[in-house]
Amino acid sequence: MHSVWRGPRALASLAVAAGLFSLAGPSAAAAAPPSVAATPPMGWNSWNHFAAKIDDATVRAQADAMVSSGMRDAGYRYINIDDTWEGTRDAAGVIHSNAKFPDMKALADYVHAKGLKLGIYSSPGPKTCAGYEGSEGHEAQDAKTYADWGIDYLKYDLCSLGDRMKATGSLDKAQDIELVAYRKMDAAISATGRPMVYSLCQYGVAQVWRWGGSVGGNLWRTTGDITDRFSRMTQIGFGQAGLAKYAKPGQWNDPDMLEVGNGGMSPIEYRTHMSLWALLAAPLLAGNDLSKMTPDTLAILTNREVIAIDQDKAGRQGDRVHAEGPLEVWAKPLAGGGKAVGLFNLSDQPSYVEVSYADLGLKAPVKTRDVWAAKDLGKLTSYRALVVGHGVVVLRLG
Ligand code: GAL
Repeated sequence: MHSVWRGPRALASLAVAAGLFSLAGPSAAAAAPPSVAATPPMGWNSWNHFAAKIDDATVRAQADAMVSSGMRDAGYRYINIDDTWEGTRDAAGVIHSNAKFPDMKALADYVHAKGLKLGIYSSPGPKTCAGYEGSEGHEAQDAKTYADWGIDYLKYDLCSLGDRMKATGSLDKAQDIELVAYRKMDAAISATGRPMVYSLCQYGVAQVWRWGGSVGGNLWRTTGDITDRFSRMTQIGFGQAGLAKYAKPGQWNDPDMLEVGNGGMSPIEYRTHMSLWALLAAPLLAGNDLSKMTPDTLAILTNREVIAIDQDKAGRQGDRVHAEGPLEVWAKPLAGGGKAVGLFNLSDQPSYVEVSYADLGLKAPVKTRDVWAAKDLGKLTSYRALVVGHGVVVLRLG
């Protein structure tokens, strides 16, 4: 699918070559109320596992499994249909779903009846990344259609608009095109009166974390696509260093959807993936087939204490404390003054990883819990863990 469109990479190199776009500073005003994404959105998205092989029956099966597996009770809510649902527009310009999705409203009713929410996908350009109909010139109409169907979440993927931006040859003009397009859909969603999570997808170009909130985004992808490989997952996850200050309730950095359970990593590596995303206050959008989960996959996705770190009310993103070769310590401030800490070992051999709590600004001995082991360790001032290769020990302090 990605071969049909080369926008993000081309755009990224354009931006890098010019030292990135010139931008207004971080916006003070959040266009969307935090209530819609007061904590990072949790749910499922069709793309990572199913890509174009997604249809009504499969989406219903995912909703069924989200409930029967216990994921809904663990906090997962959104069932998000990614690219390839789109059909054609009628004479009045109204978008219709294609034959794979015979009745979107009925599907939304089905999902809602299970206590879940339904998400959809489009592009500000004329075409989506998979070459389907985009929303350009039809923003108000499409937002209204989504609202009529009962949609609760929109992922808005730059795709073909990137070609137009590139064609301007001017970074400022390119940036204007993007800002106008994202704002247009934000206004269109607001005009419907239906709350929808607004997810920007433009691969982290032009420091989107600085302005994603000012165009109404509740989350914005900070990178290109994740794949189901440890090397790519860690490249993306650990590449989030320095972005913590741009995340807050209602506005989140999005290092892309989870690959947990898709088969390309070991359970230990998936635990590292889940732990890192939780420390990053990242959206937790499962990307596997929920109807066919191993006990390991389900245990990783539904670990209540890890989810609580991600969903902590303070809404603070974690960041790197220090790194020494393949050993990294990350910490996330929690409501009430506590901290979640990740002791990561990126090498493939077991290694000790150590953290002194003074480095986290904690002076007195602090109650320490090993989260994955579900074990209280007493009041400590430092901790040294033997961490398996590609693994992590997550601590909750305080
Ligand atoms: C990519 C996007 C993916 C997926 C795909 C669909 O640009 O990053 O997450 O949405 O398009 O075509």
